[in-house]
Amino acid sequence: MLEISAKLEEALNRAFIKVFPKKNRSPKTSSILTSSYLVPASKPEFGDFQINCALALAKEIKQPPRDIAQLIVDQLQKDNEFLKICKAPIIAGPGFINLSINSKTLISQIHLRLNNKRLGVPLKEFSKTKKEEKENNRVIIDFSSPNIAKEMHVGHLRSTIIGDSLARVLEFCGYEVLRINHVGDWGTQFGMLITHLKEVVPEALHKKDVVEIRDLVNFYRQAKKRFDEDQAFQNKSRSEVVKLQGGDQESLTAWQLLCNQSRKEFQKIYDRLGIKLIERGESFYNKFLEDVINDLKSKDLLVNDQGAQCIFLDGLVGKDGKPQPIIIQKSDGGFNYATTDLAAIKYRFSNPPLGDGAFRLVYVTDAGQASHFFGVFQIAKLAKWIPKDYQVEHVPFGLVQGEDGKKLKTRSGETIRLVDLLDEAIQRAKKDLKDRLKMETRSESESFIDKVSTTVGIAAIKYADLSQNRVSNYQFSFDKMLSLQGNTAPYLLYALVRIAGISRKGGDLNVSSQNIQFNEPQEWSLIRKLLQLDCVIAEVEKELLPNRLCGYLFELSQTFNRFYDQIPILKAHEPSRSSRLALCSVTADTLKLGMTLLGIPTLDRM
Ligand code: ARG
Repeated sequence: MLEISAKLEEALNRAFIKVFPKKNRSPKTSSILTSSYLVPASKPEFGDFQINCALALAKEIKQPPRDIAQLIVDQLQKDNEFLKICKAPIIAGPGFINLSINSKTLISQIHLRLNNKRLGVPLKEFSKTKKEEKENNRVIIDFSSPNIAKEMHVGHLRSTIIGDSLARVLEFCGYEVLRINHVGDWGTQFGMLITHLKEVVPEALHKKDVVEIRDLVNFYRQAKKRFDEDQAFQNKSRSEVVKLQGGDQESLTAWQLLCNQSRKEFQKIYDRLGIKLIERGESFYNKFLEDVINDLKSKDLLVNDQGAQCIFLDGLVGKDGKPQPIIIQKSDGGFNYATTDLAAIKYRFSNPPLGDGAFRLVYVTDAGQASHFFGVFQIAKLAKWIPKDYQVEHVPFGLVQGEDGKKLKTRSGETIRLVDLLDEAIQRAKKDLKDRLKMETRSESESFIDKVSTTVGIAAIKYADLSQNRVSNYQFSFDKMLSLQGNTAPYLLYALVRIAGISRKGGDLNVSSQNIQFNEPQEWSLIRKLLQLDCVIAEVEKELLPNRLCGYLFELSQTFNRFYDQIPILKAHEPSRSSRLALCSVTADTLKLGMTLLGIPTLDRM
């Protein structure tokens, strides 16, 4: 619909020029006309679009709104480009103009989408030759980003799922996306971890073959406990940090070992979720931190506050109401989380080879880090590290809660491990499937059951997360996410299975735009829904809200199910049979594409 609505807007502007010649326009009239766009019709009975500037204009030029609407309509009726696309406009109510796209246009648009990979979604072209056009199409999405030696928690799961889906949508639109895993692989916690390692598994540092620390999370807990309780251990840990930062070989080996071990654990989760990331942890930016300080100093942005190098920003106050500094360098010379993020922004916007050369940076973390990013982005702006027209954005999300509305925990009150969460979803999907098979007296192989329940289980977790507006907290419920009813992954997967079944029986498709024919309202509603995909993708690209895509796919499946339940497909006469099968095919492709953009694989049978 993007292309059609653009053409209609052009026709509308031509009509405006005729009815309200530019030289006669008052400033108010101009402003009404330049901001008068087509809006999608609020109800299907009203057609596809509505123009509602006549009411606002009526006050300004002192004419009844219906008369104004009539003048606009008269012009549209003389416009050939308009007439090719639309039926005769209808003036409704106090002076709205309702527009309906004609059947010919709808049919040719649907025909264009048949067996077409892009399904009407334009691919952004980035010209390398024309100077005025933006050559840069590189976007960085910073997502997942767990911390070494700690457990990846549900917050990281949300970041991983949302970040992956945004990356897929932007890639599909034509951007080059760098998926960066900004893992927490540096900082004072390594002092205690290495000290503990040297004491409990000293052989780890000398043996040729790699020593496994089986339970890294437990290892972290033990180290932390000793750090909190034992002064001597604390002192050793502190000097260990200094050694590590100074590049001591043995400390670096120990650090490497811990990172490798964690990396392996994280990778298991990424593999199960089908996530691709480039790991570039905090430590990568160490060599640029000094430069960050010098640059900020030279721009007179740093304030010495009790030995620490700080920046005070307008609007940033602490709980006590006093201005809250962002500490860039601690009084002992150490650097902070924020310092690393500043170095990262600089690097990401700088041109290769000493940077990524991106024009848009997207950070996917929980909403709790909003003020961190607000501060860091402000500083980067003050330091002029963000080139004109380039963007940095924090994409925040809410908490994952249990069904009781509290923080998600196991029955015994511990934090839930991600692997257990995935396993349980798969187990439950398996049970549901087996029950269903029994009811349908169907028998399937073990490998079929495994494949379907793994796909459905993971799909349910991902979809439950993506279908919520990410900003709000969401309640984690296995029962809801695995239900075959409602806005869930199983519902959508099932719609696809249904269509695959019809298509198998329908045989080869052979339709041209000449012999396609539609007569039923259910067909037209499905067509109109299908044609909305491009607008939905454009919205997600701009607002970075995957739930918009989920909502659309859900509505599409509902519209399809009504079509399927209310009118015959395989038993219909030609040309309806082929025309309806063509709609099935475009629906299946649209659902599949949508699910792929959410990072969810689909099934032919389930
Ligand atoms: N490691 C951080 C955490 O677990 C998230 C990092 C997000 N990315 C960034 N560039 N700060 O909270």
